[in-house]
Amino acid sequence: MRWPVGTRTPGANHGSRLSTRPIPPLEYLERYRNEGTRTYSRHAAYSECRPEYQPTIGASEFDLPCWELPRDAVQVYRADPPPALEARYLPADRALFVVHPQVTADAGSDPWLVRTVTLGRSIPALRVSPGSSTRTLFVLGDAHDHALKVHFPFRVSRYGRRMRNEVVAQAIAASAEIQEWCGGGDPTFAFLREVIGVAHPRSESDTGRGENWGYLVRDLRPYPRVGEDRSLVPGFALYGRDRFEPTLDPLIVDLADAGDPLGWTLHNVMLPIIRHWVGCYRSLGFILEPHGQNVLVELDRERAVQRLVHRDLSVGIDMRRRRDQGVPDGALNPYNRFENGIFASIAYDRFLGGHFFGYLARALMDRHPRLSIDDFRRPCREAFGRLFPDHDRYMPRSQHYFAEARDTHGKPLHRDTGEPPAWRP
Ligand SMILES: Nc1ncnc2c1ncn2[C@@H]1O[C@H](COP(=O)(O)OP(=O)(O)OP(=O)(O)O)[C@@H](O)[C@H]1O
Ligand SMILES: [Mg+2]
Repeated sequence: MRWPVGTRTPGANHGSRLSTRPIPPLEYLERYRNEGTRTYSRHAAYSECRPEYQPTIGASEFDLPCWELPRDAVQVYRADPPPALEARYLPADRALFVVHPQVTADAGSDPWLVRTVTLGRSIPALRVSPGSSTRTLFVLGDAHDHALKVHFPFRVSRYGRRMRNEVVAQAIAASAEIQEWCGGGDPTFAFLREVIGVAHPRSESDTGRGENWGYLVRDLRPYPRVGEDRSLVPGFALYGRDRFEPTLDPLIVDLADAGDPLGWTLHNVMLPIIRHWVGCYRSLGFILEPHGQNVLVELDRERAVQRLVHRDLSVGIDMRRRRDQGVPDGALNPYNRFENGIFASIAYDRFLGGHFFGYLARALMDRHPRLSIDDFRRPCREAFGRLFPDHDRYMPRSQHYFAEARDTHGKPLHRDTGEPPAWRP
């Protein structure tokens, strides 16, 4: 898709205010309004994805190979799926199984790909458009907006992007819990549900953590559902540059009230996200990862922000908080459980603070030089302290981040940076 590249609202000049120019659709923003944003770590711009499948430089759509497997040959997980998606991915006594084309091309001997091909019946490929995370693919031509988060055992940014059975199951369990909690009554909270998971069962020879993999079906209609038509803007697209029109103002400059850009941004974006993060952590022990790629802003037709929509439910889980709250384990498995606050610091101090809010603030400071970074941080620190007075019981006194060293599975270890928190007290 080449949305309004080079097109102008009649009468508008280059660089004119966006209020006279339509906001591009989500699929365009996902791929092309993300320039200059992946500078937050030395790995952020790294990708082993073949160029043709990369969201920014590759094809805007491609074919996703698909098989039909007997249902009893796979593990299936559900979190209240919409009937239309259930009918499509779990027809009768079968289950669809999708595989990223780079896996079929470059990992042909993978045992679960071999099992898919051996047990499955090849059916016509699905037409998909890659989202900003590379491995989450928007399915085209379906009346029910949805995406597939697929196994991609190649590194993008810091991580290899596997979709192991344990990870699939955990995302579905987390989605069900978040759906029930649903922001604890905060009307600005919404999220994208993971509604179906399909994965190969563990093989008898696998004595390790279980490398069997599958995929997730993500409902792209924000939950809770609202009747009216609203549009979604990824967090990074608020401050990212346009790939084809790099001199365009970042969206935040046009969306924020020019008379009070600080107040607008705090009220409409930053403080609600802090409320959601703290609320989810306190209620469920779930550590949301609200960096610029994991949050979307939901706008009504007048471009007023209605809700902040969280996506990507592979959350860390602070088991200490769940015990303190008396929340049972329910359907959760051992994946991503923590007994300390290190990952909470990485998610809040670095992902939310460093990888998102810092960039957003700087986009506004470039335009409004009287603003300083502390104008944004101070109210955020105060709000965090108010919402989470006993945070010292759970979170460390300094910011933690990834270390370069990795564990035996290639997962990065963590380190104490020694820096004091900037976006919390
Ligand atoms: N502006 C951005 N900020 C952060 N990550 C970005 C940005 N643009 C693209 N990305 C990519 O998005 C991914 C972020 O990792 P993360 O674990 O949140 O997502 P994921 O689990 O792969 O997919 P999804 O968010 O679709 O569930 C990485 O692959 C990263 O390179
Ligand atoms: Mg993500």
